[in-house]
Amino acid sequence: MGKPKLPPMPVVRAVESVRSALAGLHRRLVPGHIALMEMITAGWLTQAIHAAALLGIADALADGPRGGTELARTVGANEDALHRLLRLLISHGIFKRRSDGRYDLTPMARALRSDSDVSLRDAVLFFGSEIHRAHWTHLADAVRTGEAVGSTVNGVPFFEYLRTDRELGELFDRAMTSIGTLTMGPLLASYDFGRYRTLVDVGGGEGLLLGAILRDAPHARGILFDLPEVVADAPARLAELGVADRCRIESGSFFETVPAGGDAYLLKHIVHDWDEERIATILGVLRAAMTPDARLLLVELVLPEDNRPNPGKYIDLEMLINTGGRERTESEYRDLLARCGFTLIRRIPTVSPDNILEARPS
Ligand SMILES: C[S@@+](CC[C@H](N)C(=O)[O-])C[C@H]1O[C@@H](n2cnc3c(N)ncnc32)[C@H](O)[C@@H]1O
Repeated sequence: MGKPKLPPMPVVRAVESVRSALAGLHRRLVPGHIALMEMITAGWLTQAIHAAALLGIADALADGPRGGTELARTVGANEDALHRLLRLLISHGIFKRRSDGRYDLTPMARALRSDSDVSLRDAVLFFGSEIHRAHWTHLADAVRTGEAVGSTVNGVPFFEYLRTDRELGELFDRAMTSIGTLTMGPLLASYDFGRYRTLVDVGGGEGLLLGAILRDAPHARGILFDLPEVVADAPARLAELGVADRCRIESGSFFETVPAGGDAYLLKHIVHDWDEERIATILGVLRAAMTPDARLLLVELVLPEDNRPNPGKYIDLEMLINTGGRERTESEYRDLLARCGFTLIRRIPTVSPDNILEARPS
């Protein structure tokens, strides 16, 4: 994947402010009950997008527009029902219908293709899956108890369940990689990861981010660390990025061990997964493996202090339901790190919702 051209931060922030103001106006232009009803049906749109991803409609249109009969035959659908599904999606700008009646891709539909540079297909498949919906059905329980619902729904905590149901586990890993493609460009553009000789990606999944960092930093070496079944596909991905000879793969549980000898330890979307007791264990294991000069790099969403919309506010509930984790503000991260023996040096925002929190052992 080539390096994307990113807009400057002030432009992104200005666009965000305008969109937020327009969204507020959009809501205020109708009575409260109408605005609420529109939000209630938003969940149906998610399921419609999920159905389109399952059927592989975007892939079926990859070579060009198709008529309804041909498209229905290709994706194995009832033509009338497919038309009704596409009618809703088209009204939201996902797919379009040309004047000759054939269906075609739009920029949003292109992100549903499995072979797009930034493909969200696996993310859509995971977030629309039955188990994900089952978890969200128990949101009220999670709010009552303050605890994740995974054990109630599946009998074991979320990450343990992913280890036993490998079909779902592999979909989850691909979904994380898929979401990772959204923020990788902004992360690489915002921080000089190449200053570290050896970078350890703890809970690095299939190695997409570490591979991209190493590709851009020809003198750096990496160690990818995750659970054994998760790193199984990493060699192919690292080879694809041309960095396999500079990246070692190690597996294990970060509650017990992490590789020693790193100049920096990268934890992307790991701390937000766990409650404070578990975080203290992970950061304790890390601290024991780190030299005093090594750096801890957390990549997290970092909640704003204000009431504006922010993706972190959704992911915060996702964490509450799935794992018992949470999103935090910058000051909450500073305090958490201090309690776990680290000093927050600086927060580096990116043009995506992700931030880099650079810390050192206290
Ligand atoms: C939310 S995902 C983030 C993955 C990756 N860092 C990213 O941002 O795409 C959390 C990761 O933590 C890993 N993980 C969960 N429990 C773990 C454990 N006990 N030891 C090591 N890794 C673990 C999962 O396998 C998964 O790859």
